[in-house]
Amino acid sequence: MIQTEMKKCFEEKFGAEGDIRTYFAPGRVNLIGEHTDYNGGHVFPCALTIGTYMIARKRDDRKLRFYSMNFENLGVIESSLDDFRPAEEKIWPAYPKGMMWTFEKKGYAVPFGFDILLYGNIPNGSGLSSSASVETVTGVMLRDMYGYNELTNIDIALYGQYSENNYNGVNCGIMDQFAISMGKKDNAIFLDTSNLEYVYVPCELKDCKIVLSSSNKKRGLGDSKYNQRRAECEQALADIQKVKDVKSLGALTSAEFEDIKDAVTDDICRKRAKHAVYENERTVLAVELLKAGKLEEFGKLLNQSHVSLRDDYEVTGIELDTLVEAAWECEGVIGSRMTGAGFGGCTISIVKEENVQAFIENVGKKYEDKIGYAADFYVVDVGDGPARL
Ligand code: GLA
Repeated sequence: MIQTEMKKCFEEKFGAEGDIRTYFAPGRVNLIGEHTDYNGGHVFPCALTIGTYMIARKRDDRKLRFYSMNFENLGVIESSLDDFRPAEEKIWPAYPKGMMWTFEKKGYAVPFGFDILLYGNIPNGSGLSSSASVETVTGVMLRDMYGYNELTNIDIALYGQYSENNYNGVNCGIMDQFAISMGKKDNAIFLDTSNLEYVYVPCELKDCKIVLSSSNKKRGLGDSKYNQRRAECEQALADIQKVKDVKSLGALTSAEFEDIKDAVTDDICRKRAKHAVYENERTVLAVELLKAGKLEEFGKLLNQSHVSLRDDYEVTGIELDTLVEAAWECEGVIGSRMTGAGFGGCTISIVKEENVQAFIENVGKKYEDKIGYAADFYVVDVGDGPARL
């Protein structure tokens, strides 16, 4: 259905001739392990069945033409492979262009341009990684179109992160691109970001569903507060390294941290580090609990994660706090927390299937009463990684 409409739109905008190929990359949601990925800690995300579709055709010149069915008002955007402007581009082609630029940097030539049509069914700015999804779908397209088959999905994840860091100016960790590139249906990915070792863990939630509540408070390109949190963690680590030989905050147990935390001179940086250390421990424990089928206890760790992100990491804000606090009051909620970078975006709640409808009504009402506009709700499934369709 989506693909038929996209094909029609592609033909209208760019013509029907030639070798036209279609690709998909999912979005992601993180179950737990927030703001740990740039601290050498663990994360536990999964890919979703919603994501980004791309139709592309290689050109015989260096032009790039982009059209997004999500931003129809922007029309066809023309650019070229001779016009890369890292850190300066503010509209969506910055993501596919960043990947092309990255491929070139890494020694994988992109000599010919493309006509590209995009459609995403991840709500934009919802914190479900629409940007990493666009990076990944572009990487998979470039690999296929140019026959760079030696590139693995992990390479594509690393290129996506490189592109986001260096072309789009967000110093993100590897979680989003890894979760998307390595997604596996019905499985979450337990990833150690210090060495990229990972295992798939069946996302068995018994009679429960994953419900995402979108605050509809948008985050945008180049979020400065994200980079600031990262800098605060780096400052805390530098202080700690004066008294202990340790590679990252993720390498510390909470007991070790408590012993040496006074080495961190700035109160704010100490709180940020505390979150990173405890959240990493919670993530490792959460995976054990999920594997053991202890869903109730797993849910409690999700709640603790939110409290820590609210009080110590300070990335929630009234919108996400309202959604989570309303969720905690609902019947059948196993756990609820903000997910992703924060400052807006989504919360994730694990909700008994029979209570999902009432959950949406109750949380929706409380949110609109307090915030003044509506939240959106998505009951999501855990899907596979990227593919040529
Ligand atoms: C964003 C970043 C990730 C990660 C999360 C917070 O999604 O892209 O690398 O840091 O925030 O956990």
